[in-house]
Formats: sequence, C-alpha cells, structure tokens
Amino acid sequence: MKNIVLIGFMGTGKTSLGRRLARRLGREFVDTDVEIENITGKTVARIFARDGETRFRSEEALLVEKLARRRNLVISTGGGMVLNPENVRLLRENGVFIALTAAPEVIYHRVKRKKIRPLLLKGDLKERIRTLLKERDGAYHIAEFTVDTGACNLEEAVEQIIRFLSERNYI
Ligand code: S3P
Repeated sequence: MKNIVLIGFMGTGKTSLGRRLARRLGREFVDTDVEIENITGKTVARIFARDGETRFRSEEALLVEKLARRRNLVISTGGGMVLNPENVRLLRENGVFIALTAAPEVIYHRVKRKKIRPLLLKGDLKERIRTLLKERDGAYHIAEFTVDTGACNLEEAVEQIIRFLSERNYI
C-alpha cells in the first residue's frame, strides 16, 4: 500500500495526527524531523544553528530517498519538506499527500510556547508566521486531500482522512 504523507505548515498538527493515524491503521509511523535527529545525533535546532539550513535540507532530501522506497508508512514531514520539488516527486511515486492547514492565529497559539523551531525564532512571531505562510503559498496545494485542523479535533480530523483514504482505495 502507498505511504500516507502528511504535509503542511509548522503547528498544523502533523506529528500528533500522524501518530494517531498510524495507530488506527496499524502502520509504522515516521516523523522526518525525529528521524533526522536520530540519524545525525543532533536536534533540528542544533543542525540549523551549527551547520545551517542548507545542511538540514540535505538531510531531508537524503531521508526522502530512503522513505520513498518503502511502503505502508504514515510519514509526518517537516513543514519545509515540500519546498524541494525533488522531494515531492520521490514521495509521490509511492505515496499519497494529505495536507493539514490551520489559520495563522491557531498556528500562533500552538507554536508560541515551544522554542524549538529555528525558522520561527527571528523577530515578532505573529509576523514571522504570516510572512512564511505567504512565502509558501501554494506549496501545500499539491495534496489530494486537505483538513483544517483548527476546525475540528484530532479524532475528527483522523476520521476525515480515513474516510478519504478508504473511498479512494488507498487503505
Ligand atoms: C520547518 C519545519 C519544522 C522543521 C524545521 C523546518 C519548516 O518541522 O522541519 O524546523 O521549514 O517549516 P514542523 O513542521 O514539524 O514544525
């Protein structure tokens, strides 16, 4: 069966939802940020600070090459993963993209206490979220199905995704 690949901006709930979805479907769950941290032995924040964003993006691309060869996974991606067209091409070969969205205010409330996202540390947080969302406008539209995680709870979001996947015979 194809991999289920969750994409979307930071704070849209990819990790929590992915974990639940995987549990419901009895599939293995992979969070790309966690996997990169395991492979490199460094936190994402440390990679950004010490080695730079370019290095982090190379780690993402290497990981995608590996994951795209596997099957039956639920994969939660880092918010910038789909900005690289090659990542999208590889993951699409053997996967279905599901996008998670949320309004800027919802994202703000979800990420404000966690100081773990390097791209959100510069300047005013609300402003930064708005700017990045604008910069990435369209990047998440590649998905076959989109869920607004600000409009329902986690369980309902999982149900919507499962309904979509089974209607399309992905599961
Ligand atoms: C990033 C999102 C983060 C992480 C890194 C860069 C991005 O993942 O990969 O900080 O460019 O949007 P989450 O979307 O899981 O926060």
